Amino acid sequence: LNIQWFPGHMTKAKREMQSMLSMVDMVIELRDARVPNASKNPLIDELVGQKPRLIVLTKIDKAEDEETKRWIQLLSNEYTVVVGVDVLHDNVKKIISENALFLMKEKRERQIKKGMNPRAVRCMVCGIPNVGKSTLINQIAAKKTLVTGDRPGVTKNTRWVKVNKDIELLDTPGVLWPKFEDEQIGILLAITGAIRDQVLPLEEVAYAALKYLKAYFPERLQEAYGVTIIENNYKLFLEIGRNRNLLQKGNEVDYNRTIETFMKDIRANRFGKITWERTDAVHE
Ligand code: G4P
Repeated sequence: LNIQWFPGHMTKAKREMQSMLSMVDMVIELRDARVPNASKNPLIDELVGQKPRLIVLTKIDKAEDEETKRWIQLLSNEYTVVVGVDVLHDNVKKIISENALFLMKEKRERQIKKGMNPRAVRCMVCGIPNVGKSTLINQIAAKKTLVTGDRPGVTKNTRWVKVNKDIELLDTPGVLWPKFEDEQIGILLAITGAIRDQVLPLEEVAYAALKYLKAYFPERLQEAYGVTIIENNYKLFLEIGRNRNLLQKGNEVDYNRTIETFMKDIRANRFGKITWERTDAVHE
């Protein structure tokens, strides 16, 4: 899913998010484990405030394990639990429910002490496009849905889906926009495929990706294309094109096709697991 955001969309998304937030006890915020800072919505902290938050770093199958561990540590705090998941293969239902209950434990224990019977924890999923929101909701929601249009503040279309006896989830996620104002962030989102290719020049994205691979994984680049890593990036792309046999008339390297192929290779994980944003280079 790719969305072009305009100021009107943002205002609407913010309003929807606020209205959903008023109905839930806690928030499940999804971010892409390969770019945990770039895939964060700029208003999320302000919007969520001090509600307990479970940050789920998705797509860990594509990110570096050690770097994911560091991100989990960096993002955790008093109100926030952070976990990494491969939404497609992990038991996300178990991981989400255990951590959600852990976050709500004190509150529920206080209620029990007062002789109250704590109701199910209500939560919502939110995040920028393409972080895996729909996939995750589909994985953890039991088929049975609970229509509760008569609760205050609940529109006709809002449904709670039961995760288990202790947890209910809003069936639609809060879709938020990424930080556009920073070009570097746009590039990281383009590298990981979260924003469409037409938004930023592919060549610029490819150069940024090449620079990163040269700095952190020169051996993988070398191995994937059988090239010697040289300083000049334009010449390096020509070498890559030559070795991939991307030639045009007169045996010249087809530069544009080389750039496209390189980006396809990145998105197909040809270079293995890569975290494109490192904890030591980012200040949250
Ligand atoms: P969204 O609702 O937040 O917009 O995201 P959605 O669930 O549609 O997921 C976006 C893409 O990411 C989907 O791929 C989905 O399968 C994939 N995905 C979600 N979680 C994970 C994960 O943990 N690991 C991996 N490897 N992939 C994950 P898609 O339908 O093929 O779309 P696309 O890849 O063409 O964007």
